[in-house]
Amino acid sequence: MRYPFGPKWTQVLAVTASVTLAAAMFAGPATADNIADGGAGVLARVDNPYAGARVYVNPEWSANAAAEPGGSAIANQPTGVWLDRIAAINGVNGGMGLRDHLNAAVDQGANLIQLVIYDLPGRDCSALASNGELGATDIDRYEHEYVDPIAEILGDPAFANLRIVTVVEIDSIPNLVTNISPRPTFTPQCDTMAANGNYVTGIGYALAHFGALENVYNYLDIGHHGWIGWDDNFAPTAAKLADAANASGATPADVAGFITDTANYGAVHEPFFTINDTINNQPIREHASWIDFNRYVDELSFAQAFRTELTRHGFDPGIGMLIDTSRNGWGGSARPTGPGPTTDANAYVDGGRLDRRIHLGNWCNQAGAGLGERPTASPAAGIDAFVWMKPPGESDGSSTEIPNDEGKGFDRMCDPTYTGNPRNNNHMSGALPDAPLSGHWFSAQFQELLRNAFPPV
Ligand code: BGC
Repeated sequence: MRYPFGPKWTQVLAVTASVTLAAAMFAGPATADNIADGGAGVLARVDNPYAGARVYVNPEWSANAAAEPGGSAIANQPTGVWLDRIAAINGVNGGMGLRDHLNAAVDQGANLIQLVIYDLPGRDCSALASNGELGATDIDRYEHEYVDPIAEILGDPAFANLRIVTVVEIDSIPNLVTNISPRPTFTPQCDTMAANGNYVTGIGYALAHFGALENVYNYLDIGHHGWIGWDDNFAPTAAKLADAANASGATPADVAGFITDTANYGAVHEPFFTINDTINNQPIREHASWIDFNRYVDELSFAQAFRTELTRHGFDPGIGMLIDTSRNGWGGSARPTGPGPTTDANAYVDGGRLDRRIHLGNWCNQAGAGLGERPTASPAAGIDAFVWMKPPGESDGSSTEIPNDEGKGFDRMCDPTYTGNPRNNNHMSGALPDAPLSGHWFSAQFQELLRNAFPPV
């Protein structure tokens, strides 16, 4: 998977020009209250679908987790079900399809299921690891072979008592903001998708069709703090999200909320420094290269601020945020236990940060990562839930080229010997070796996530 770094691009330009800038389960079983249908046959929409919900445990992921030594300790956690290609609707290689998952959710007595809608034309335009099956112009196939059949299944009255969370098209809108010309982080593929409008058109279509179902909750992706947290990216991303929410018949009322950190590694909260700290007369925001002029140092502060920003762009004040905490725990022996030394801004931030990545823009199978907070409803103001949308143990991308029929490419950000590109400011990738294709089971990563879990398992 992708997660291209979206740096403060003016700064990258300045650097290029050698200018120094001054610069768990969720509570309880399905209750009579939360499965009441108000007499209409379909659940009335609630403010936070996770509140009081019992969330579906994907038996396929659960079996993979339980087969690992120690894995049964977390195998009963709810994780996202990714519909990552048209064939996934009916099930790939004899696996469960969408209807199977929905039936299994009903059988489990769950009342909430989490789906990831992930098959846009020209998918993953800034990276290669999660390129998909649809070409840049395949918008008709997206709408009629992917979204329509999913919407039809979701609308089956047999599933009317399930709250259905749809995470709509991760990375796509952020890519349209940060990875297009004339920014140095541009890719030709993102330029193409910005020019042909098919991300916006496709997302609008998905929002409108899923949003028409009263029991479906659409959550749009906002990247993460290490991507959208810079001033140049923040408001423009909210504006682009509003464009998508007003495209193809959608309205902002079709959007229940937003998700940050999907399949990424940014910590929920950095306890040992704040963005406003100054060390030796050096404001760390400007002087610590880890922060590099970002406005945010963690996911919680970013999510809460971005929520406010979204309401300025026409989204409902009642929107809620999700944070994917599947792999942002950063426990283990390398976890700092206090602030870094106050000698200078870099020593202070690098010594105190929980996030141990080599660079904030690194996104593929990160060495040293651990499971994060267990899935929890309403963990903080404005946050609907901590979720495990990326199933822990599923790879972000292969570390060498692997031929496949899934459209997946080889992205060097998944190769531990790679020295980087403008999207991670030319740092080492920090990826684990010997990884399989994105989405495939990666036992060594699962083991590491378990070992470095925080809170510990
Ligand atoms: C892959 C998908 C997979 C998902 C969840 C993505 O990186 O491209 O194929 O379903 O991760 O593991």
